[in-house]
Amino acid sequence: MQTASSSSDITSSLRESRNFKPPAEFVKRAHLKSMAQYRKLYAESIRNPDKFWGKAAAELEWMKPWTKVCDWKEPHAKWFVGGKTNMSVNCIDRHAHGWRRNKVALIWEGEPGDEPHISRARNIPYASLLRQTCQFANVLKQFGVKKGDRVIIYMPMIPEAVFAMLACTRIGAVHSIVFGGFSSEAIKDRILDCGAEVVITADGGYRRGAVIELKKNVDAALAHCPGVRHVLVVKRTEQPVHMVPGRDHWWHEVQQNASYECPPEPMNSEDPLFILYTSGSTGKPKGIYHTTAGFMLGCQMTTKYVFDAKEDDVYWCTADIGWVTGHSYSIYGALLNGLTTVLYEGAPNHPAPDRFWQIIDKFGVTIFYTAPTAIRAFIKWGEQHVLKHSLKTLRLLGSVGEPINPEAWIWYHKVVGKGRCPIVDTWWQTETGTIMISPLPGVTPTRPGTATLPFFGVDAAVVNKEGKEQPRNVGGLLVIRKPWPSMLRGIWGDPDRYRKQYWSEVKGCYFTGDGARRDKDGYFWIMGRIDDVVNVAGHRLGTMEVESALVGHKMVAEAAVVARPDDLKGQALVAFVTLKGGQVPSNDLKDQLRAHVGKEIGAHAKPDDVRFTDALPKTRSGKIMRRLLREVATGGEIRGDMTTLEDFSTLARLRHDEE
Ligand code: WT7
Repeated sequence: MQTASSSSDITSSLRESRNFKPPAEFVKRAHLKSMAQYRKLYAESIRNPDKFWGKAAAELEWMKPWTKVCDWKEPHAKWFVGGKTNMSVNCIDRHAHGWRRNKVALIWEGEPGDEPHISRARNIPYASLLRQTCQFANVLKQFGVKKGDRVIIYMPMIPEAVFAMLACTRIGAVHSIVFGGFSSEAIKDRILDCGAEVVITADGGYRRGAVIELKKNVDAALAHCPGVRHVLVVKRTEQPVHMVPGRDHWWHEVQQNASYECPPEPMNSEDPLFILYTSGSTGKPKGIYHTTAGFMLGCQMTTKYVFDAKEDDVYWCTADIGWVTGHSYSIYGALLNGLTTVLYEGAPNHPAPDRFWQIIDKFGVTIFYTAPTAIRAFIKWGEQHVLKHSLKTLRLLGSVGEPINPEAWIWYHKVVGKGRCPIVDTWWQTETGTIMISPLPGVTPTRPGTATLPFFGVDAAVVNKEGKEQPRNVGGLLVIRKPWPSMLRGIWGDPDRYRKQYWSEVKGCYFTGDGARRDKDGYFWIMGRIDDVVNVAGHRLGTMEVESALVGHKMVAEAAVVARPDDLKGQALVAFVTLKGGQVPSNDLKDQLRAHVGKEIGAHAKPDDVRFTDALPKTRSGKIMRRLLREVATGGEIRGDMTTLEDFSTLARLRHDEE
């Protein structure tokens, strides 16, 4: 499956053969300054991972030292065996008890801005981050949350969301954050899958000036989740919400009597830290879970080296905490390095399309990390919005979530970075926990469209089905051949799926699901997913999930969902739908079906296009021929083998319907 951006990557490799060398000014101050230095460290990390990671782990604070760096029995890795540590201690206490106590940990900016009546724009120093986290940790304890219990967080991007995450880690509870754009159905599925008994939410959140009714969505989900005992609710938007007596409690009320002190729970290195649900190639989202020490080390190291993080940086990763990027980089990686991290509640174009640039100038942001889909939106809105602001504090730019098309790369470099900021195009996944392939900004010459070279300890390769490495410039499967500290430890409650999904495709390797090729310099060019997973605006969606939502509608008989390239979102979803007998296609029904998917999954999963058809093209064995549908959806020629297609007329009709 080719995306717009991946196909342009390939042409661009011819066009964009020029390198962007790290600027001399940047290199002067960088943690790592030369390719030789990178190569030496990389070689050591691959040759002797135990020594490399053992040394690195000494930068963290341990309650009990580990005895063994890595215990690997494919497909199960244990890192820092025997050690005990705590995420919140490493993120907060270390700084709050030292000279960084008054350093700002979080700069929070609410979407409505600084109007006094709603203004809660806040600077939160490490010392108060500690107090707030401990206080809320005590609230969780009061409500019976213990080590190992799962807690659902469904919140807007407000400081309390960060306190909630860190409070969970303080007492050893496992957080599972559900993105605020997900529907009540999606919340329900996640609560039931992980067996959470406590949900933390807010009355609502702001998005593009409107209020998202978070509490209402939770209420709808809980009608089907008898196991949930308590809901803790932050008052954010102040619209009226229904509070169920005994079950629901206001955050500001229950925290009043909670102490500011809460001793951290000593966690085994391999105790679960969080579960994050992500899409796979089946209809059911997978609860990817990560454990404590390895994930922590991955966040700390990659933030330090990939973002070249320094004491005086003001760092802003724009990802919502509902996605893995928000976990690893908005919060954990930043705090582990004692940085000042910016948290912005709302949309990039509210109240005007220059909101991000205004925020950068307002707080003096030095490192800015965002997604290609956002960059393409900025291009569309026009560079005048950027040029209104000086952006003179910026020194490094990052990109994540999908391949960045060269046009967007060049624009980002010129218009935002003024030609002076290196760009790190970082490839990784919910499963990998932290950045795996990326330039190091003081080291790696970059080229638009490639994530370049692997991070330390990452034995990435492009192979064929048999696991044999492909020659240069030949596409293949992107795999990782060695375990790494921040790798996923499993799929919650489904060990078989873990083995099957990730460790069976290519023998002895972790299979990423992505296709890639390496160029003459060994740079990795990611070509996109090769399974039925699509990337819409940097969000991962399983086409099967959307299909099951569609067939859940009472008028739908069958559905097949494929992606077509989209200028803004990278990929857009096209749904081919057959209706049950007697149902009549209409534009109204299209809207209904889109709304239905929005209700079942979330607005980001709504198909861009719904097409009705009397039949779907199938093989003789009954498998839907998605390849053909993709070609129809893209409006392109139908090429390739059609000999297994059972009914040619189906295809003819589908093409006809297009006109
Ligand atoms: C998939 C992972 C990594 C956090 C955000 C998404 C695609 C991600 C890049 C990149 C090309 C990329 C891959 C990957 N992807 N970053 N820099 N270049 N593709 O996390 O939802 O787990 O999705 O996003 O296809 O497998 P995710």
